[in-house]
Amino acid sequence: MKQFPPQFLWGASTSAHQVEGNNHNDWSEWELRTATQKAYRASLHTFPEYITKRYPDPRSKENYISGIAADHYHRFKEDIDLLQSLNLNAYRFSIEWSRIEPQEGEWNEEALLHYEEVLRELAAQKIEPFVTLWHWPLPIWLRDKGGWECSKTPEYFSRYAAYIATRLGSHIRFWITLNEPEVYASKSYLLGVWPPQKRNYFAYAHVMKNLVRGHRAAYHCIKAVDPHAQIGIAKQNAYFEAHKKTLVNRLLCALVRWYGNEKLLNSIDTTQDFIGLNHYFHYCIHQGAICNNKAKKSDLGWELYPEGIYHVLKDLELYRKPIYITENGLADAEDMYRAWFIKETLYHIHRAIQEKVDVRGYFHWSLLDNFEWAEGFWPRFGLVEIDYHTLTRIPRPSCIIYATIAHNNALD
Ligand code: GCO
Repeated sequence: MKQFPPQFLWGASTSAHQVEGNNHNDWSEWELRTATQKAYRASLHTFPEYITKRYPDPRSKENYISGIAADHYHRFKEDIDLLQSLNLNAYRFSIEWSRIEPQEGEWNEEALLHYEEVLRELAAQKIEPFVTLWHWPLPIWLRDKGGWECSKTPEYFSRYAAYIATRLGSHIRFWITLNEPEVYASKSYLLGVWPPQKRNYFAYAHVMKNLVRGHRAAYHCIKAVDPHAQIGIAKQNAYFEAHKKTLVNRLLCALVRWYGNEKLLNSIDTTQDFIGLNHYFHYCIHQGAICNNKAKKSDLGWELYPEGIYHVLKDLELYRKPIYITENGLADAEDMYRAWFIKETLYHIHRAIQEKVDVRGYFHWSLLDNFEWAEGFWPRFGLVEIDYHTLTRIPRPSCIIYATIAHNNALD
């Protein structure tokens, strides 16, 4: 038996836009504008039958419109019961900024009370909330001002953070200001694949700077309300491995590791109380190219390499802060690899803990099938499957394995 530390948090994650349904923000508008084109592009690909037999089909327009999603906004009690039935003692979810502040400076009381109810329900079931303040979409008014390119956005963000801290802070100990700011900035401003689809290095650099400013300002606002609040971001770190450990490859790895994993964390080092780690990727680097062998792949074609997390955790030791794994998971509609992946990943996390890395929790992405951004609904990340015709929740077999581990606080 591989025992985990007492008080270890066993959790699952979601984000508002991906599961709540009926959001109106910059993403929902972008989805409506681009769905037809995305469906057309997908129709040029071949998808396995186990993907196309499910609704919505990746080649259809509906797949790209978040719409009612999993209707988590109304079904949160049922979903919290699911967490409970899986023996999970922590839940990471996000508050949707566009609901709370639909017009500039105007707060929507109904939305606030909704999230308060969610927090009360979690408390009643003894589930620790990890609350993300911004998981990518923006209110329309803020998009119209230029989103994170606007120099006043850090201030708007911290004003929103202060509002949430004042109204809901008594229910929240763990805060995640920003989800993967670097992924957002590069996909939206450098690679041009997410809204507002820019390809401009200067815009990207400016957005990164504003995100850091926004985080720092929000950190101080939350601390002013509650000095005991534990605040961090969710940072996506990949494992960069030097092929055959040659000198050139090791140098290249050190460079990309610094740029991709460390630079942002260094810049907020004095304004984070813990490290939130989102981990999905392994890159084997050979002379500037990627040479992974991809023995096992998820439905999205991402390599499944559970050992990577051990190396990433070892690297994070340098920050000397508690680490919570705020996301880790795979798109696996048929649940072929999920149980194996969870067990292997936890084995490697346990190894890092044995070597004194201070890991205090693991959140699987995701509790539910959800809307995977530009890919839409077809990648199935849930421990629990959603039948999008009926919105029925159907626990996948692998969730029993995870529930048993959480119950025992140990891996067999
Ligand atoms: C991210 C986001 C999630 C994704 C998940 C799977 O890490 O990209 O936080 O919203 O859905 O990671 O890609």
